[in-house]
Amino acid sequence: MGARKDKKMEAVKVTCLKKAFPGPLGPEEMEDVLKGVSFTLKEGSFTALTGSSGSGKTTLLHLLAGFLTADSGTICLLGRQLQGMSPKEAAIFRRRHVSMVFQEAALIPSLTVEENIVLPLVMDTGRLLDQDRLVRILDALALSGKLGRYPAELSGGERQRCVFARALFSDAELILADEPAARLDTRQSLELMGALKECAHTWHRTVLMATHNLDLAQICDRELEIRDGVIHFL
Ligand SMILES: Nc1ncnc2c1ncn2[C@@H]1O[C@H](COP(=O)(O)OP(=O)(O)OP(=O)(O)O)[C@@H](O)[C@H]1O
Ligand SMILES: [Mg+2]
Repeated sequence: MGARKDKKMEAVKVTCLKKAFPGPLGPEEMEDVLKGVSFTLKEGSFTALTGSSGSGKTTLLHLLAGFLTADSGTICLLGRQLQGMSPKEAAIFRRRHVSMVFQEAALIPSLTVEENIVLPLVMDTGRLLDQDRLVRILDALALSGKLGRYPAELSGGERQRCVFARALFSDAELILADEPAARLDTRQSLELMGALKECAHTWHRTVLMATHNLDLAQICDRELEIRDGVIHFL
């Protein structure tokens, strides 16, 4: 399961990242959202990204995931500088190493839970299904009895856990999650947080999770708050 206890490295190193968007009057008046964001995330850590609505949480996750390009600053993921890569190289690197989980659990409705979890990795790498790895992930996320179910037959919490199971089953060392618990009730949110924290620690996955919910942020190993375009370490 890719456990590398011997090497505690920085999974993410962001330096002086800036991003502005066109304001209401258009590109002549740009609005600075990120004004020089710098932080590091240790491998195997579970970090909450908080901040008021519009503070730039999604923007930051999208920069890390490669959906957006920064105006300036650097992003180093798993020891690799993204700026030095060609767009194709960066896309392949991210597909293999970074997984993004959205608020809306994105599952393919016509595939079972098992197929949703294993197909992306099996199709991408041609690797045979690692049953043992699958069983351990399903256990950790309390999905063992749901393998043959379709997404429509799951609760919201189970669907969201299934998306994380897919991210964990892939080789992605870095998991970016944007408000993954927003549609879950308190009990489901707490269960998801507990499972994510354990998975991060056990399998050395680095999780950065944007959330409005300060109770959930407390469960994480660490909290970063975006305020006035920069990171505050709480
Ligand atoms: N494509 C875009 N074009 C123009 N402005 C944008 C764009 N994307 C985001 N913004 C602006 O950037 C700011 C930060 O948005 P972002 O979505 O990152 O906030 P957030 O912290 O995720 O908020 P929320 O908690 O509501 O999800 C907002 O003011 C938003 O209007
Ligand atoms: Mg957001």
